[in-house]
Amino acid sequence: MIPQSFIDELKYRLNIEEVVSSYVPLKRAGKNLKGLCPFHSEKTPSFTVYPDTNSFYCFGCGKGGDPITFIKEIEHLEYTESLKFAAQRVGLSMPEDVKDDKAASLKRRILEINRLSARFFYSALISPNGKEGYAYLRRRGLNDETIKAFGLGFAPNSWRSLCDYLLKKGFTTEELVTANVARTNSKGNVYDLFRNRIMFPIIDLKGSVIAFGGRVMDDKKPKYLNSPETNVFKKGRNLFALNIAKNQNSGSLILTEGYMDTIALHASGFKNAVATLGTAITSEQARLISFYADEVIICYDSDEAGRKATNRAVEIFSDTGLRVRILNIPNAKDPDEFIRKKGRESFRELLESSLNSTENEIELLKRKYDTSTSDGKLYFLKEFCLLMAKQEDILAAEVYISKIASSLGISKDAVTEEVNTLKKRAYYREKKKLELALPSFAAQREDFSNDPQRHKYYKYAKCEDRLLFFLYKNPNSIPLIRELLPPEKWVTDSNREIYSTMLSFYEDNISLDISSLAAHLSQEQISRFSGIIAKNCESNISLETANELCRIILSIKNEKSADEISKMDISEIGSYANELMKNKK
Ligand code: CTP
Ligand code: MN
Repeated sequence: MIPQSFIDELKYRLNIEEVVSSYVPLKRAGKNLKGLCPFHSEKTPSFTVYPDTNSFYCFGCGKGGDPITFIKEIEHLEYTESLKFAAQRVGLSMPEDVKDDKAASLKRRILEINRLSARFFYSALISPNGKEGYAYLRRRGLNDETIKAFGLGFAPNSWRSLCDYLLKKGFTTEELVTANVARTNSKGNVYDLFRNRIMFPIIDLKGSVIAFGGRVMDDKKPKYLNSPETNVFKKGRNLFALNIAKNQNSGSLILTEGYMDTIALHASGFKNAVATLGTAITSEQARLISFYADEVIICYDSDEAGRKATNRAVEIFSDTGLRVRILNIPNAKDPDEFIRKKGRESFRELLESSLNSTENEIELLKRKYDTSTSDGKLYFLKEFCLLMAKQEDILAAEVYISKIASSLGISKDAVTEEVNTLKKRAYYREKKKLELALPSFAAQREDFSNDPQRHKYYKYAKCEDRLLFFLYKNPNSIPLIRELLPPEKWVTDSNREIYSTMLSFYEDNISLDISSLAAHLSQEQISRFSGIIAKNCESNISLETANELCRIILSIKNEKSADEISKMDISEIGSYANELMKNKK
């Protein structure tokens, strides 16, 4: 249990505005601040920071809480770890008696296994045993410096060499299996997961080895064997080599598909390259990039799959505010092969001539149609105009239209007119769509999927919300409300839980703020509570209103189901209706 006094001191020193703005650019909006939510993709800011209550809430995704919650979520930490992280930030040391929870200590063990495994693989690579692996890497153009910088290694062609090494270090079989460096067979014997492969450690931003990719040295399948996800490794949250690339401060990051591409780029001096780990880029990775750069240069393989992945990536990046450029690789299948064939200077030229996403689409269209025929020209123009109609930057569109019109030998005005017609059409379609969507949008504002009770008793849940807000603002009224409406009379379990926590805080003389509550409530609960505060913060609930809210909540007992009503006789229905009328007033 973490001493309350420590949490108090910590939250006193943590300033929500300062914490959040070190991750998210914020703009002042009245007494609050707004920014693009770091927890979901959005183009207009619905993420709000409340200096008054030292809290945040996103109206888009519903995440909310205090500075510690924010740190916990954005750094992907366990609660205790987030306290540590926050404490470090403000220069406090954790009290001695704070025991990490089980999950955190298991995590540390796994990270230690990974660290030792990476060292083991590296030593193997440069030992006589790793001859074959070392020769392979040399054949692929890597020198000792690069091998070392990435901590590349070799998993020996044996069933137990890593296991034996780690067991001797005192780890248990279960730990090796949990860390995903070993498996057990049906007889319960443990064996190495990676055998006879070149090893690529995946290192997170803190410098911890969180996973491995292992490549065969020939054409066997699978080409790469990757660590499955663990509680220290989530594929879509990390980027290979970001730990190195982020220190380049070059303002831009080069994004590739593969380990070898990124390594080859680094070896040639482009140390701002990173790689997704063989899957499509996630919005989380896109945001991660936007923390470290203003510009991303997508440099995927030159095949059809690479082009498709590029288009998807452009879409994902469009929500981040990053400038996006696209690098097409001529005469080679991927950046690694290109740089090996043509050298670093040619790659630099490619970088300099890389296109923004619109230019890239125009380029692809040109390749798609043969514009020397009139049919080809027509098809090309149709798609080109559609593209221009979607272009938000009017000046840029103007430039592209001029260029294309003159290169095709047609009038610029004709193209402009076609683009304008398409724009108008799109505008009306969009407007119609919005009108159609509006009613259902209002009804779907709240997501009930986790809380069917809230859906069923929506009216009462809203009253409870307001009552919670009232108590939060007026903790002195807690004893009174507790008399009127004890916890067992609350309608929804989720609000009852917050209420009970408030009552026990009152009993224990703990101040009622979001930070203290966050230490006792689940992430969902604290997000919801922050939402209640955010949505009510302009309102002032009087004690009379609070009384009224209690009365409404208590009245649920009197509401009968349709089934019950159908069984009443006329006079019963009459008096029931009277009672309801009384309550509604
Ligand atoms: N990948 C994977 N599993 C596979 C194949 C690929 O996880 N069976 C992932 C790897 O992260 C790889 C990336 O997808 O780096 C891109 O694949 P590819 O272009 O085939 O690999 P390269 O990194 O270019 O490797 P190499 O040049 O050694 O073939
Ligand atoms: Mn390759």
